[in-house]
Amino acid sequence: MRVVLGVTGGIAAYKATGIIRLLTEAGHDVKVIPTANALRFIGATTLEALSHNSVDPDLYTDVESVKHVELGQTADLIIVAPATASFLARMASGLADDLLMNTLLATKAPILVAPAMHTEMWQNAATVGNVATLRERGIEILEPAVGRLTGADSGAGRLPEPDEIVAAALALAAPQDLVGKHILITAGGTQEPIDPVRFLGNHSSGMQGIALATEATKRGAKVTLIAANVSEPISAIHEFVRVSTAAELEAEVSGHLNFVDAVIMAAAVADFRVENTSDKKLKRSELGEEITLRLVANPDILAGLVSTINLEGLKVLSVGFAAETASNTNDLQRLAEHKLESKGCDILVANNVSNGAVFGSDQNSVLVVTKKGSVTARDGSKTTIANHILDVLSQEI
Ligand code: CTP
Repeated sequence: MRVVLGVTGGIAAYKATGIIRLLTEAGHDVKVIPTANALRFIGATTLEALSHNSVDPDLYTDVESVKHVELGQTADLIIVAPATASFLARMASGLADDLLMNTLLATKAPILVAPAMHTEMWQNAATVGNVATLRERGIEILEPAVGRLTGADSGAGRLPEPDEIVAAALALAAPQDLVGKHILITAGGTQEPIDPVRFLGNHSSGMQGIALATEATKRGAKVTLIAANVSEPISAIHEFVRVSTAAELEAEVSGHLNFVDAVIMAAAVADFRVENTSDKKLKRSELGEEITLRLVANPDILAGLVSTINLEGLKVLSVGFAAETASNTNDLQRLAEHKLESKGCDILVANNVSNGAVFGSDQNSVLVVTKKGSVTARDGSKTTIANHILDVLSQEI
């Protein structure tokens, strides 16, 4: 996505670097337009190096390309952070006196503005009026954070953290291709009890499943998230159910199957459970030097739901995950296609866990194969991967 980042002249201008980094790491093309005053706080060289794009805020250079119109028309999203009181006033009155203001008037892209200033300026009637005018026009204006300001004082007026600004901005630009769809997503790793304090578990953090639930919600879907033992915070999901064992996960999945348009099985489900769990804690002093745990197979939830979908003729798209230890990409594709077929699902997302890097990390690298024969690879943050999987899913749902 092409993101224009406007930076205006406030002390928080240095935080633009964090915003640029988050956007470029997520694979977006970032074009920075600082105002003349922003360049008193942060150098164009820094902005160029981080955005990997030239920075030329002069309205009167490169005139033949009609820069402001080109920037405004090609932007998918515009963020202004930090936004000063003076910027809010100029924007509210439509004053096109520099490249940033011209670009803002020449765009149809969603605009997110993150103001930062002293509390008195934020609460001044002029600023309050300008913010109200801009909000009425559909501009998204973030509330400033409360905390330490430039001087010794504290209050409302701090620029929100870069990750908060980027998340709010990307939510504005999310395609609304899943409106009217109900998606069931499982996340996390099941735990199979041995006794009241011990269990058999796995390394899954649930981050990929949660990213899928968050992004699908932004794209307009109604999401039910069934999470097995996740510690990540979950917010703004339509329905959220916590489970622990594979049996609990299976019960929740089958209870929802008739009401959803797609199921994404991102959870790492234990293939086996302990046959006879102990009601009482097993005492080391009573166990001797060896114990034997007898394990019995858990049902394959994904394969089971695919067979129910087929038997009952349900219109439910199924997405499976496969954590594989592959030696290279060809090997991963072979394993993914084999699992797609053996599970019978419509889409299979495979990742290579050979070096264990994916667990608990924000980064992931996947190969997505579909029954219809498409094969796509994607590297990046779990949010980027989630959106790629949803791109593939939205073509088929
Ligand atoms: N899965 C499931 N029920 C199980 C085991 C796995 O629904 N009892 C689902 C997972 O949620 C995932 C997919 O099946 O979407 C693949 O999991 P994976 O562990 O790779 O599959 P296994 O069947 O365990 O295959 P193998 O151990 O042979 O690689």
